[in-house]
Amino acid sequence: MLDAAALEVLNFSRRHVSQAVDTVRRPVRTIRLFFKIRRDVLPGLIRLANTEGDRLEVRLGRARLLLLSAPADVHEVLVSQYRAFHKPQGPISFRRVLGDGVLTSEGEIWRRGRRLILPAFHSDALQPLGAKMVELTLRRMDEEWRGGAEYDIVDEMTSLTFAVATEALFGFQDADLSAEVRDSISSGMRYASRRMYKIVRLPTWIPNRGTRAAKRLRRAIGRILDEREKRNGAEPDLLSLIRGADESGGDGFTPEELKDQALTLLLAGHETTASALGWTWHLLSQNPAALARLESEIRTTLGGTLPSADNIRALPYLEAVVQEALRLFPPVWGLTRQAVEPFSLGSRTFPTGTRVVMLPWVIHRQASYFSRPDEFNPDRWLDGSMADQPRHAYIPFGAGPRTCIGRSFALMEMRLIIATVLQRYRMHAVPGHVVVAEALVTLRARQGVRVVLEPRTLVPDPPDGEEPFRPLVSETASGGCPFHEGAREVPS
Ligand code: HEM
Repeated sequence: MLDAAALEVLNFSRRHVSQAVDTVRRPVRTIRLFFKIRRDVLPGLIRLANTEGDRLEVRLGRARLLLLSAPADVHEVLVSQYRAFHKPQGPISFRRVLGDGVLTSEGEIWRRGRRLILPAFHSDALQPLGAKMVELTLRRMDEEWRGGAEYDIVDEMTSLTFAVATEALFGFQDADLSAEVRDSISSGMRYASRRMYKIVRLPTWIPNRGTRAAKRLRRAIGRILDEREKRNGAEPDLLSLIRGADESGGDGFTPEELKDQALTLLLAGHETTASALGWTWHLLSQNPAALARLESEIRTTLGGTLPSADNIRALPYLEAVVQEALRLFPPVWGLTRQAVEPFSLGSRTFPTGTRVVMLPWVIHRQASYFSRPDEFNPDRWLDGSMADQPRHAYIPFGAGPRTCIGRSFALMEMRLIIATVLQRYRMHAVPGHVVVAEALVTLRARQGVRVVLEPRTLVPDPPDGEEPFRPLVSETASGGCPFHEGAREVPS
């Protein structure tokens, strides 16, 4: 419960933030700032917002960069004035890799692509995938995991979410093709991550490791699509729902367009979710009380039956754990835009060409919006304290017309994987292994998240009421659905 003085401080900070403080940095200070941040990006960005304000403009020659960490500014850029912005190309020109896929395209091509894809990501269409997600998790545990052994759980989650995305999209997996795709994605990502922090970059059209990886990736996806065609819809999959729009409306994707979209969904659909799961396991391994409470909820509610798309809705604490992990470690730690026409924030107008970076990483860790922001406290999503949070203070999936298409998919997948794994294993952090967050293309742990797996069984209460294991904390009331944003319409 907050006292009056604390509320005043909170209200003051909110006023302060929603009015957004402008700070302008000029060349010499800009270069100094760049080097300071480059060494220590994530803590550096938080320090910067705290000392310089939540709207920092950096100028270097004609280039302008705006770092934004006020929810009101996020609303302006992503919602109210979204037409004034395009997505920049990113460190390896993601457009070159993903073509006109929905992640990288703009204008009418993007609008049409999003409209054709959306039905496949509607919650009803996703329901049948739940069983597949659980099955693939069980298979990974059976075939790859051994009790007592040590793993980098981020790698494990990447393999698992990749398998889920492949089966969901194409209805099958081919070991060789999957290995080819994964290998080219990870070498492309490594190259992109290194390039992000290079001061001088060669143009993206000069052949390099990134472009070679992109070519390999596109070839492999082409082969997967050919193979899928041969199987002639043997397994229902998400791509067939996307193609469905084609057959009924006549306005469908050409084979080349479908390749761009398939590649986009595969790429966007597993890296981020793997990162989020890796961080969730890390947080649970550091917070035994939360872990015990989660295990208790799963045991009591599921009673030893497998999780499903249906029964996980009755696990509010699991939902809160996922939401809190995405707050503390948002896989997409920064959202970037480039102004294609002038735009205004507050009383200021900014010119075409201004590069804008919005920082979920910083916003999610502001005391103005989240009490004790660095603490892992899933209860904050259940006890009503988030009710008067300003819009866009929580944006792990972005916001506005370009909000994440796969949000429901990812939230279902994360909950199903966590519940399925916890019925069989408890994860312990490897002593001495320090987990450090690193701002790469997604938010990653520098040396991974190393855990040891302890086999266990979450069995239902025996009839005589004897506890099979004792939760460390008592259960409290559940809340309504804390994921307050629903599916989006495509704006016309
Ligand atoms: C926890 C997992 C995930 C997180 C945190 C996440 C986060 C995001 C964010 C922040 C954006 C907006 C980017 C921007 O505005 O610049 C986005 C866009 C997108 N996401 Fe996700 N995502 C996740 C999972 C998925 C999944 C599973 C899929 C598909 C299967 C997916 C597909 C997409 C696509 C296609 C877009 C582009 C939408 C557009 O531009 O219209 N994402 N995601």
